[in-house]
Amino acid sequence: MNSPHFPELLRYQSGFGNEFSSEALPGALPVGQNSPQKHALGLYTELFSGTAFTVPRSEARRSWLYRIKPSASHPRYERLARQIPGCELGPITPNRLRWNAQALPAEPTDFLDGLVTLAATNAADQADGVSVHLYAANASMERAFFNADGEWLVVPQSGRLRIVTELGMLDIEPQEIAVLPRGLKFRVELLDGQARGYICENHGGALRLPDLGPIGSNGLANPRDFLAPLASFENSDAPCTLVQKFLGEIWATELAHSPFDVVAWHGNNVPYKYDLRRFNTLGTVSYDHPDPSIFTVLTSPSPVTGVANMDFVIFPPRWMVAENTFRPPWFHRNVMNELMGLIAGAYDAKAVGFVPGGVSLHSCMSAHGPDDITVQKATAAELQPHKIENTMAFMFETAKVLRPSRHALESPTLQGNYDDCWHGMAKTFAPGNLS
Ligand code: FE2
Repeated sequence: MNSPHFPELLRYQSGFGNEFSSEALPGALPVGQNSPQKHALGLYTELFSGTAFTVPRSEARRSWLYRIKPSASHPRYERLARQIPGCELGPITPNRLRWNAQALPAEPTDFLDGLVTLAATNAADQADGVSVHLYAANASMERAFFNADGEWLVVPQSGRLRIVTELGMLDIEPQEIAVLPRGLKFRVELLDGQARGYICENHGGALRLPDLGPIGSNGLANPRDFLAPLASFENSDAPCTLVQKFLGEIWATELAHSPFDVVAWHGNNVPYKYDLRRFNTLGTVSYDHPDPSIFTVLTSPSPVTGVANMDFVIFPPRWMVAENTFRPPWFHRNVMNELMGLIAGAYDAKAVGFVPGGVSLHSCMSAHGPDDITVQKATAAELQPHKIENTMAFMFETAKVLRPSRHALESPTLQGNYDDCWHGMAKTFAPGNLS
């Protein structure tokens, strides 16, 4: 099916977690077996595992690749002098933090050089938790990259991206997302000359659709709206630098061929995209409003039932109809940790200061909620049905505390006055009102 926003460019296969198959040349995909003695087109067979071989079948992710050169055909990796800024975590702070959007680079900067680490739950060699990166780039990658430390959830805030992967190409624009499996080789090309956005690096269980419980068998993000690429390949012997991130460090090797040489593949360990505007947003039609878990797009589970290693949650345009209700998010103190970003427009809990491309971080048990201006407006509002439009905020909600990097804490984009949005709130207590 075509993506509505790139109708002339790419085609995709739809569904979440399917056993997909695709061949760019007829006959490239073996029939009835995975590893023939001799491939009909002279391709090498390679298994790309996303989970241990012995996990339950419902958890298993793997794909079979048929390629011109095996991935093993490479010289040794050398550690690069330039590492990702922010790989060092900063001092511990329980404070609520908010950052303005980062500036776009002035010098030519590709997606990799434009990466900075904002926060992480733990070192990248741990088997759970997440790291959060920001990117800002003005040049397409002319090298390839893979991340050995986890899958990537890419959330563009400005600028369209073409993500060329081993399994085919994905085009995404702001208000769409892409998920790239751990270890998948890819390069990012900029379709608008510059781009900026967020990345959640998931070190835990692979992202999946949340259970729906009493909601039933439909709603939230529907499986058919997730799109995986079709096979496409480069038959090129031009030199190509292949970079990897391994335990948080950047290493590179030089290939004598394109790593995007997979002519056919099948399996369920695949990159995919999703348009957040297709999210089937649910909410109250009576009073109060549900917990924000009702806005979960994808989740990475932890070993504890119901506790997410990371939930990806969005706050999209929606109708507000609740009667006799304070309609913005309530004040709260959460055992989970909340890192929020804003893709477009304004977020309904913050009247000022939370800008597109910005970030806020509310760690475990830090008190937060709507700012003073929002509270005053919401308590005085006439409760007619109204639609919140021109908005798309998101949250990476984690079980483990997200610690900002030293780079993020020293960044000029860090706001020094975030606490002020709750400062001086009027004392409205009037015990005589009921007498
Ligand atoms: Fe919150």
